[in-house]
Amino acid sequence: MSDSFDLIIRRGKAVTPVGVVKTDIGVRGGRIAAIGDLGSAAGENVLDAKGLHVLPGVIDTQVHFREPGGEAKEDLGTGTAAAALGGVCAVFDMPNNNPLITDTDAYSAKWRNARGRLWCDAAFYVGATAANVNELAELERLPGCCGVKIFMGSSTGNLLVDDDATLAQVLAQGARRCSVHSEDEARLKERFHIAEEAGDVSAHPEWRDVECAVKSTRRLLKLAHAARRRVHVLHISTAEELDILRGREDTISVEATPQHLTLAAPEVYEKLGAFGQMNPPIRDARHRKALWKAVNDGLIDCLGSDHAPHLIAEKEAPYPKSPSGMPGVQTLVPVMLDHVNAERLSLERFVDLTASGPARLFGIAGKGRIAPGYDGDFTIVDLKAKRTITNSWIASRCGWTPYDGMKVKGWPITTVLRGQIIMHEGGLVGEPQGDMMRFLETY
Ligand code: DOR
Repeated sequence: MSDSFDLIIRRGKAVTPVGVVKTDIGVRGGRIAAIGDLGSAAGENVLDAKGLHVLPGVIDTQVHFREPGGEAKEDLGTGTAAAALGGVCAVFDMPNNNPLITDTDAYSAKWRNARGRLWCDAAFYVGATAANVNELAELERLPGCCGVKIFMGSSTGNLLVDDDATLAQVLAQGARRCSVHSEDEARLKERFHIAEEAGDVSAHPEWRDVECAVKSTRRLLKLAHAARRRVHVLHISTAEELDILRGREDTISVEATPQHLTLAAPEVYEKLGAFGQMNPPIRDARHRKALWKAVNDGLIDCLGSDHAPHLIAEKEAPYPKSPSGMPGVQTLVPVMLDHVNAERLSLERFVDLTASGPARLFGIAGKGRIAPGYDGDFTIVDLKAKRTITNSWIASRCGWTPYDGMKVKGWPITTVLRGQIIMHEGGLVGEPQGDMMRFLETY
């Protein structure tokens, strides 16, 4: 073939919709132009991927990059740099910023400031409140918007819709999939004394107990059914909710985080203290086991890192003043590849959870699979590489990871965004080229 390409990835093992195929891939104008033996075709850039796996670009469907208002912890530049370094090509950023991203002005300003600073592609959520209910249908259709986020229980920031009447109104507005933090606010309030009296982070899963999550998810499913609305249950954490969700309607989808799949109480709190504190909490191994079962029977639709950076000094405050959340966008790929190597899930399932799954759920245009015409987004990984995750590798402004010292097998080697190499062998390449993600209008 005498064609020429902007980028040729040679001889990698590509995870495609038809299986794992040893092939060349040619990208032109940012999109996949050819898959197959490209013979002597010329490429402006050529990557030798022999011995490596070429995955569709990983999409992290839940990050908190803190801009505007929390730039001391993270901003869109540092957060997307961390993403690219970790093999992530696109992120959905949450709206619990300051000011909250709950109206067109705040949303547009966030995009204006993001221009030219994103290392990977991005979409932004808008937050639901009692005050913006009538604008949600319009807000969710703004360019670059991945949908509406609802906090049913309070977490970091003050986004909250906790009563059924307002929730029903929110779900009645618009049509796209609504993503929900599902913990029951009334029960969280009732039980806060448990956290205060304990003064120790090991009480976190007792304060925010299984029933907080179950009660809220039951309410949510009922409301979603009544509104006939597509709903995405974020960071699922309990075996009991998974059992309920096994009988879900086909409008309901579910996310798991690498943290809930990797860490477990009580060890996480003994080892990490409040650095292992997040909402909903890391629970005991019974729940983790149920999550793995749900990953492997297909109940879980996608993974989100829930990257929620907080500064070390903030995390050192006495519990429950210590804020909830852990960074995770940079460690999602290596931690999950280590699980692949440990045979806890297949590489194909990992791709389903981080590329085709997100594309299917949210109607992402042009991403999620290695196929002609799709964006030339690739997460190129060495499944045999043995590395240690350390705080010093972390590009997030928070400067720490709950996995510091963890030895993993499987590592992202190159990140390619629309045909441009943005990370290679641990270093960022070129200038930030991230753009707004596009969504199908029918979603
Ligand atoms: O632990 C959490 N931290 N859970 C959330 O839902 C929010 C997040 C944050 O923004 O810090």
